[in-house]
Order: sequence, then structure tokens, then C-alpha cells
Amino acid sequence: MYRSHTCGELNASHINKEVVLSGWVQKTRDKGFVIWVDLRDRYGITQLVFDEERTDSAILEKARTLGREFVLQVEGKVIERSSKNPNLSTGDIEILVTKLQVLNESLVPPFTIEDKTDGGEDLRMKFRYLDIRRNPVKQNLIFRSKVTMEVRNYLTNQGFIEVETPYLIKSTPEGARDFVVPSRMNEGQFYALPQSPQTFKQLLMVGGLDKYFQIVKCFRDEDLRADRQPEFTQIDCEMAFVEQDDILKAFEGLTRHLLLEIKGVQTAEFPRLTYDEAMKRFGNDKPDIRFGMEFGELTEVAKHRDFNVFNSSELVAGISIPGAAQYTRKEIDQLIDWVRRPQIGAKGMVYVKCNEDGSYKSSVDKFYNQEDLSQWAKITGAQPGDLICILSGDTAETRTQLSALRMEMAERLGLRNPKEFAPLWIVDFPLLELDEETGNYHAMHHPFTSPKPGQLELLETDPAAVRANAYDLVLNGNEIGGGSIRIHDKETQATMFRHLGFTPEEAKAQFGFLMDAFQYGAPPHGGIAFGLDRLVAILGGQETIRDFIAFPKNNSGRDVMIDAPAFIDDAQLKELNLKLDIQS
Ligand code: AMO
Repeated sequence: MYRSHTCGELNASHINKEVVLSGWVQKTRDKGFVIWVDLRDRYGITQLVFDEERTDSAILEKARTLGREFVLQVEGKVIERSSKNPNLSTGDIEILVTKLQVLNESLVPPFTIEDKTDGGEDLRMKFRYLDIRRNPVKQNLIFRSKVTMEVRNYLTNQGFIEVETPYLIKSTPEGARDFVVPSRMNEGQFYALPQSPQTFKQLLMVGGLDKYFQIVKCFRDEDLRADRQPEFTQIDCEMAFVEQDDILKAFEGLTRHLLLEIKGVQTAEFPRLTYDEAMKRFGNDKPDIRFGMEFGELTEVAKHRDFNVFNSSELVAGISIPGAAQYTRKEIDQLIDWVRRPQIGAKGMVYVKCNEDGSYKSSVDKFYNQEDLSQWAKITGAQPGDLICILSGDTAETRTQLSALRMEMAERLGLRNPKEFAPLWIVDFPLLELDEETGNYHAMHHPFTSPKPGQLELLETDPAAVRANAYDLVLNGNEIGGGSIRIHDKETQATMFRHLGFTPEEAKAQFGFLMDAFQYGAPPHGGIAFGLDRLVAILGGQETIRDFIAFPKNNSGRDVMIDAPAFIDDAQLKELNLKLDIQS
């Protein structure tokens, strides 16, 4: 028996008990006549004590040789501590060790295994198994497990069936590049790893399973960010005989359940915003609505003077930053520099200080009078003491830039409270999106999404105007889920592919199996997929998903611990019938 108790379990009620513990050496303190060792396992830390008076001298000597992260098994008696540690659940007791066995030694770890470590990101990733011994990482993984279990319980109780779908498949377009796997047995042919189980879950609906879910790995070869990994996990769901409202209700239910069970937060009915409204009010299809600073559109009211910058702009829009009228010239200049950085790309910024006395001071006083500025204040909701920041130009660009400024200011002003949860649905997404580079349209969600009823004809005349039965679930400024009602008949699907630039032959080659299936009584169906990593991170009060993944990839898509991806040897290449021009 390696242990009778864990290292987080013992307290004053166990005094005088003989116990066996196993764990890692967190630290040792050697005072000569007495040695204390903190023994750690997943559950906590227990203090061991060895002293000249009470401990066998051989054991005492052995205790002096212990290094950090040695693995021990000890036997001993629980005794009361003379100096108690109220910060530790085991802080009232210590173990007077009578038997000490070193189960394994350890090299000196490359960083401290403490909540606040001296190890940088790269080092911690290389030695991730040591990083996982640290509380913050360990707690995140435990937290993730709890969320996953709640999801499974909830969906199972709602009658969903968990079905596994294959990983070695053909491309499922979700807007990223595929990771591909060469097939040894089929020369020159490749599988694609799923960007999502989209087509399979639709086929499960044709198969009559009615309510499906899967907690599933997805693979996307795309540029990485804090909220993106090349392999990530979805809570993937699909239902038959549903309309959009049924899906929104069902998964609002799941989200509310999680907020309540995991965070103890009660939420009111989630607001629903159309995509157009979200873009107009927040410049963003995943607005953070924990704070205001909504956009005020000033295009009409700002165009009647001689200020050419505004007169030549498609959109003039501003936000009011609470309490920022007191910013110094220097602070405002810094803000202007911030919006002009290449990453944001604004040409400049007009500002209006709303003074406490009700007067206004702006950077365009030459062109606009107090009455004009007062109207701007009204439209942007600015109060005395606020600073109105105004950007202008092309509508889409200006909105993106102003949205970035809004988020930045909210961050600086501490308005993005991680303990507050503000979910909402974004609905009525455009069906298609114009690719500026190629001039072609591509599906904004994916090609299986159905247009709004009666809008199919509009595809011919005004494709950009077609709205889709597609929706996203947004939480605290992050897209945590997205889905749609699907096309379920062959003709509509064929029309869709045609508009996306597929020839009938290409559509058949890539998605013939789906269109064939649609001919055998496909029920109306729809679904959604949540990004589990994102959901867990946000519930955990953070936005970097890497911290909630046991073995994540770095920003170049590498696993620095196992050193992947890696070159493969010639024999393996040959077996796969692959020839590479570059080799190590
Ligand atoms: P979508 O592409 O919107 O929809 O993906 C669903 C959710 O998955 C998460 N997500 C990611 N998380 C981490 N890293 C990534 N690289 C990444 N990409 C996406 C997001 C996103 O909202 N098949 C459809 C769903 C459907 O229509 O039912 C799909 O995959 O949180």
C-alpha cells in the first residue's frame, strides 16, 4: 500500500494516527537538529518532521539527502504542530516520520514548482509534466474535467446520444486548411483530419439518431492566437426536426446550467442581437456586453461643416470613454498613436472632451461649435467628464478599428470583469462573405448552412444580402459556439455549391455522399458546436485557452515537449510513396 491518506487530507482529528503518505518533495528546511519536508501530491501539502530527539539517526541522515521533487513514501505518526499554518488545510499537524523510502530521485527541476514560478512560458512547455504539478495548471485541468462532466451529464439527461465519428476522413470545409494524412495502402491519396464532424453529424440525423453530441477533437491548420489551437475540442451537437429557436433554447439551457453549476451564476434569458445590429452598435460580431461604450453614428450630423475628413467618410462613429475627459494632451496623443498602429490602422482620431461644466473642447473646434458637439455627446451617450473618441472612413474598417479601441479602453479601465458573465446570441448572419482577394463568395459559416426561408432566389441577384439561419453564442467578447439550421435537400445544396464556385463535378466528388444521403429522407435538422477550450477558459476567468489544455502547441504550432512536428526517415517516406524536396 503506497498510502493510507493523501497529502491534503490530514487534520487535527487525525492526531496520534499512524499513516502512510506518498508524494513529491516540495521543499526541505534543514535546521541541523530538525528537518522539515513539505510533501506534495495532487490533493495538497503535508509537513513531515524529522528531529534528533525522536527520529532514528539513519532516517535523519537519509532525510538530509532529499532533493526537490524526489518521490517519497513515508510512514509516521500524525502530531500537532507547534507553529500552525492557517493557510494550509493540513496546517495544524505534521507527520513524525518513522519510515522513509525514496521511490524515485529527481534532477533539480528547471523551474520552481510553485504557484508563482520563475519558469518562462517556453521552459514550462518543454517540461509541461512539471508545470502540471503546479497548482494553477493542475486546477485548470481539474476544472476542465468538471465542466466536461457537467456537459455530458446535462446533454445525456436531455436525451442526447454521444457518438464517435472518424478522424481519418475527407475534407470538411470550416474555413481553415486541412491537416492531411498520407495513406500507405492507397498510393498518392490522403485523408484529411476533420476540421469538425460537420458532415458526419448531419448523416447521423439522416440515420435517425435525432439528438447527437460528441466531445471531440477538431483539427485546423490556421494562424494561432490566444484563443486558437491547431487541435482543439468541440462540444459538437446536432438535432433533427428543429428550427433555429429550438436550438437556441436547448443550448441556452446547457450554457445556463454550466454557469449555475460551475460558477453559481444565475443568468436571465440571453439577449439576441442580429449580426447587423451587433456590427452597428459594437463593430463586432462577438461583442463584449459587460460594459457600455456603444457606438454612436455621427455620419449624418457631422457632415454639414467644412471638415473634409468627415465629409469624405462613409461612416463617422464615436464611443464615449467614461471619466477620460481629464486625459492630458500627452495621454490623448498616445491614444491617437495607438489607433494609428498598423495593427489597428486608423488614419487619425478626433476627440471631444466633455467638461464637467457642460462645455466641450474638441480637436475639431475650428469646424464645429458647442451645439454640434453637444449633439455628438447625446448620440454617443457621453456625460460630463467623458471623452468622445471618433473614427471615420470606410464603414467596415472604421467599425473594426473603433471596436478595437472600445475593447482596449475597457481593458485599461478594468471593465472586463472576469467574474461577470454576459452571454448573448448573435443571429441572422450573412450567408456568404466576399473574399476581397479572389472576388469570390464563400460561406460565412459553412456550405451546409441554409438561407433564411424565401431568400434562396436572392442568391442570384444580391448574394451579399442573403441572411442565414446561422447563430453564434458569445460570452464576454468571445465566440464560444456557432451553428446553423442545415440545408436538407439535394437541390438547395447543389445551388449552394454552385454559388460557392464548385462545378457540379467538384461538388459531387467532394460531397456526393452527403447529397446522395439527402435523397433518402433527410429530416430537417440543425445544430451547434461549442469550443470547449474557450468555454472552459472563460468560465475559469481567462481568455488564453493554452492554460486549460494539458499539452498545448506553441504559436508556431509546435509541441516543444515531444518536439513535433518532426522529419520522418526516408524508409517511412518511401513506404508512404512520398517524395520531399526539402529534408533535414
Ligand atoms: P465553428 O467553426 O464556428 O463551427 O466552430 C465552433 C466553435 O469552435 C471553437 N473553435 C476553436 N477553438 C479553439 N481553437 C480553434 N482553432 C477553433 N476554431 C473554432 C469556437 C467556435 O465557436 N461545424 C460547425 C458547427 C455547427 O455548424 O454545428 C463548426 O465547427 O468556439
